[in-house]
Amino acid sequence: MMASSPSILLLLIYLSSSTLPSLVSPSPPSTDHITISLDQHKPPSSQDPLETLAQVAKSSLARAKHLKKPNPHTSSSSTPLSPQSYGGYSISLRFGTPPQPIPFILDTGSDLVWFPCTHRYLCRDCPKASKPTPSFIPKLSHSSKLIGCRNPKCLWIHSSPDLLSRCDKSCHPPHYNINHNNPKFSNTNTIVRRDTNNCTQLCPPYLVLYGSGSTGGVLLSETLSLPGKSYPDFALGCSLFSSRAPSGIAGFGRGPASLPSQLRLTKFSYCLVSHRFDAANKSSSLDLAISGGTGKTPATAYTKFLPNPTVGNPAFGVYYYLALRRISIGGVQVKIAAKYLSPQPDGNGGVIVDSGTTFTVMEGPVFEPVAREFVKQVENRYKRLRGVEGRVGLSPCFNVSGAKDVTFPKLVLHFKGGADMELPSPNFIAFVGRESDVVCMTVSTVGGDEGEGVSGPAVILGNHLMQNFYVEYDLMNNRFGFRRQVC
Ligand SMILES: *[C@@H]1O[C@H](CO)[C@@H](O)[C@H](O)[C@H]1NC(C)=O
Ligand SMILES: *[C@@H]1O[C@H](CO)[C@@H](O)[C@H](O)[C@H]1NC(C)=O
Ligand SMILES: *[C@@H]1O[C@H](CO)[C@@H](O)[C@H](O)[C@H]1NC(C)=O
Repeated sequence: MMASSPSILLLLIYLSSSTLPSLVSPSPPSTDHITISLDQHKPPSSQDPLETLAQVAKSSLARAKHLKKPNPHTSSSSTPLSPQSYGGYSISLRFGTPPQPIPFILDTGSDLVWFPCTHRYLCRDCPKASKPTPSFIPKLSHSSKLIGCRNPKCLWIHSSPDLLSRCDKSCHPPHYNINHNNPKFSNTNTIVRRDTNNCTQLCPPYLVLYGSGSTGGVLLSETLSLPGKSYPDFALGCSLFSSRAPSGIAGFGRGPASLPSQLRLTKFSYCLVSHRFDAANKSSSLDLAISGGTGKTPATAYTKFLPNPTVGNPAFGVYYYLALRRISIGGVQVKIAAKYLSPQPDGNGGVIVDSGTTFTVMEGPVFEPVAREFVKQVENRYKRLRGVEGRVGLSPCFNVSGAKDVTFPKLVLHFKGGADMELPSPNFIAFVGRESDVVCMTVSTVGGDEGEGVSGPAVILGNHLMQNFYVEYDLMNNRFGFRRQVC
């Protein structure tokens, strides 16, 4: 009897585990939110941690420069990021009938959604990946339609005066079905051929220039399949060529072409997994609230989004602006001129939160008082290492060798409405060097030349600052929410 009890126990476990699934009905797909997997991009791992950090600092700065001065010579109102930004996030989305899964970089700093498209897709100066980026193949989809010149969605990527002169007046087809008519997706000339006789004139191709790269193609209407729900007539860019853009980009900004706008999301949210630049890829999930749903895990602190500037660069209309009122370090309030923290009448200045920037980037006049106060509170404990600062592109840096407890003053972002974001030191400090004896503040600065004035947002809050925070973009209530949480 004694010997048989473990086997009875095992049998019970076996029975319950094998019968439970059939007794409990599978949970029905949620009707008010959709969850998709979110992957984090890592820099190519380097032997030297200092070099890795320097790379991240460099890519954060490149991204900031682009966000601050988006290229105005573009036919598109949106300008995506430089996708080499490490620490960014990617999602896989399925477009077409039957669905083809394609990876995208999630970008809250732009609005167009685009993917590498057709077998002929060309990417110049793209990093040689072990496996090539998958391209969407319109010919394999029953639901691919090219968008016509008079389709209102064509205005998402072209300004109206420019477009009116290019669209033939007598022609207003909503769509141009590539399966019934037959322009081969073989080269751009065929696709955009002008045909005024039977209204097959297409929305002129887009060319988007950003930072150091570009992408171009035609606007396509496709079905987007998300778990439990599909969205027909989603408009997105079918890019035929790019340079330095190894992956598609899913614009999550505020423009009409963005994924949240087209799906009429009430909210999207995700948890920012902790950054360990030497660790393997980690994934978390992106939650999309639909049909007025509230999604899951509500934040505990909220601050309203500020209205976007309506002047200056049109790209400013796509960003998420926050009302940051004060920054304090170790309980001491840092003096920052108010004109940097709110967008000014010329559209410049202000604080944005951006999914594609890793290290937070501040305009000189914001960074300097912050760094000065930090140094003041830390320099009597640790020796400053100016030599390292130059090499890593971050400052200030300190030698913490021999210290038993490495501690730093607390950094707090005080947002309007009483929402305080208390940041633990790993969110704004990183260890550099093999011996873990050097630390640097992970905030970069763009040296605005004297008298040149601010261009674009003065502060870009990056995702390193909010690691182990759950963040939500509550679009229905026009507010940004957050909560400390280990992802
Ligand atoms: C449009 O014109 C092209 C070329 O003239 C022709 O092949 C095609 O059948 C026409 N389509 C329609 C819908 O009339
Ligand atoms: C991490 O993700 C990137 C981009 O998705 C990929 O290129 C790389 O191979 C992944 N690395 C590991 C260790 O899985
Ligand atoms: C930090 O200080 C320790 C002890 O003084 C020294 O041995 C080490 O070389 C220093 N590290 C750097 C990077 O300067």
